[in-house]
Amino acid sequence: MTSTYDVLLGRLRGAFDAIADGADPVLRPSDRSDYQANGVMALAKLRGMNPRDTAAEVLSHLDLEGVADVEVAGPGFLNLTLTTEFLNEQLRTLLDDERLGVGTLSGRIAVIDYSAPNVAKEMHVGHLRSTVIGDALARMYRFRGYQVISRNHVGDWGTPFGMLIEHLLDLGEDEAIASLSIGDLDSFYRGARAKFDSDDAFKERSRARVVALQSGDAETRRLWQILVDESVAYFADVYAALDVTLTPADVVGESYYNDMLEDVVSDLDAAGLLVESGGALCVFPEGFTNRDGEPLPLIVQKSDEGFGYAATDLAAVRDRVSNLHADEILYVVGAPQGQHFEMVFAVARAAGWLPASVRCEHVAFGNVLGADRKMLKTRSGETVKLIGLLDEATQRANDALALRSNNLSEDERRHLARQIARAAVKYADLSTDRQRDYVFDLDRMIAFEGDTGPYLQYAHARLRSIFRRLDVPWDPNTAIFALHDDAERHLALGLLAFPEAVDGALATLQPHRLSGYLFDLAQRFTTFYEACPVLSASEPTRTERLALCELTARTLSLGLSLLGIEAPDQM
Ligand code: ARG
Repeated sequence: MTSTYDVLLGRLRGAFDAIADGADPVLRPSDRSDYQANGVMALAKLRGMNPRDTAAEVLSHLDLEGVADVEVAGPGFLNLTLTTEFLNEQLRTLLDDERLGVGTLSGRIAVIDYSAPNVAKEMHVGHLRSTVIGDALARMYRFRGYQVISRNHVGDWGTPFGMLIEHLLDLGEDEAIASLSIGDLDSFYRGARAKFDSDDAFKERSRARVVALQSGDAETRRLWQILVDESVAYFADVYAALDVTLTPADVVGESYYNDMLEDVVSDLDAAGLLVESGGALCVFPEGFTNRDGEPLPLIVQKSDEGFGYAATDLAAVRDRVSNLHADEILYVVGAPQGQHFEMVFAVARAAGWLPASVRCEHVAFGNVLGADRKMLKTRSGETVKLIGLLDEATQRANDALALRSNNLSEDERRHLARQIARAAVKYADLSTDRQRDYVFDLDRMIAFEGDTGPYLQYAHARLRSIFRRLDVPWDPNTAIFALHDDAERHLALGLLAFPEAVDGALATLQPHRLSGYLFDLAQRFTTFYEACPVLSASEPTRTERLALCELTARTLSLGLSLLGIEAPDQM
């Protein structure tokens, strides 16, 4: 179906086009009316005319079917009020549409680079953000019809692997595997580091090991593979616990690009972009300078001949455009890497690897803070384990559920507690502007009231419980929509705005556009439910209101699923 929004926007476009080319109408839900059309001012300016006169002219060309009232407001806004019949019809079409009005694109490919933890290192909260935001975007893109290629750009290469492999040998393979497989990656890493810093012979061995690894020594590669495999298996457990769609097949780590790095360098050289600086091979992309105004280098090959993080990312952009045929490439990585990505994109463009038609964006995010508003750390100052956070949230949800009267078995309660915990953690992350920092406050996140994941899950479960109480099962085919009350109309307009919320979140790569919409919808529902009894209403009002309830439940459930949050039927 075409969403109400698209119908109206299409008509406005028609009216604008009839008058002149070159100005675009904007349509927004407004407080004063159902929708507010904007852009008349730009049109008036283009034609050197008075905005109110232009508004009147737009109106004379506008198809007003289904519009009950139009008003020219302020300096040239058009306030549109829709007729109840039109809204009823739109709701009916919505109910028949599994996609709830969200359209599908076809033939577009999006590569989403997210999560990207490092081998033999614990996933920290920064990886939590990347994982949760990236997965929400992947789900939305998939739903919108894109072919999504997830790329888990795991850190699996570089100098630390010398010491990690030597440490593995010191421990013995079995012992090492045992320690890695219980997810104790950090203590493994710390053990290696401590020896590296204090033991010169170990340091020497580690250096020699890096050389062996880079020159492709078979035994060294085998040992390296153990570290990678054990870590990837551990990451897979974390993803499963978080209900994240990444699979081991999406792991395409830094090492994957090794064979492409020579070509990256020679092609940059052939393009005349490569400059030697202090023994290193660099590109100085236009427009990047340091504080003193000197050009900033992107180091492609270090003076010791080794390739760095930037070279790998250059190879990855090239691979994603030419081999994966990406139309869009998203990098869900923390804000501190902003300049790195801007420079990589600039160099890739200069080298001709990244055509202007490909949307390439760094989806940056802020930090997770503790109650003290500093970077979240454990009491002893260590990075917080993701899995520990989730376990703690699950425990709290379980305790909260135990206090409520429900007839859940012990197992069912555990399962539900996990669903609630995931919702709490993910929603807290997805409900703020991703660029901003947020405070990790488990008490607030897990509460059943307020702008939280569990609140939205609860709103959905409450709706489902209405249907469980019916004597005769509800039949969507008999559903009729007939809006009478203001609260019904208010809820209906919220339901019709779902496609805009999804599109808005995708266009800005801001999942909080969708979560904010869902929270608003849940509140509209609460207002409606307080003002309009459902089960005790007489017919046909009861049937009409049930139809609104059904659409609300489906919208909440679909919307949450696009954020990677489950919507259990019972809580
Ligand atoms: N492994 C890196 C880190 O932990 C993130 C990699 C992000 N992706 C990329 N293509 N550079 O910081």
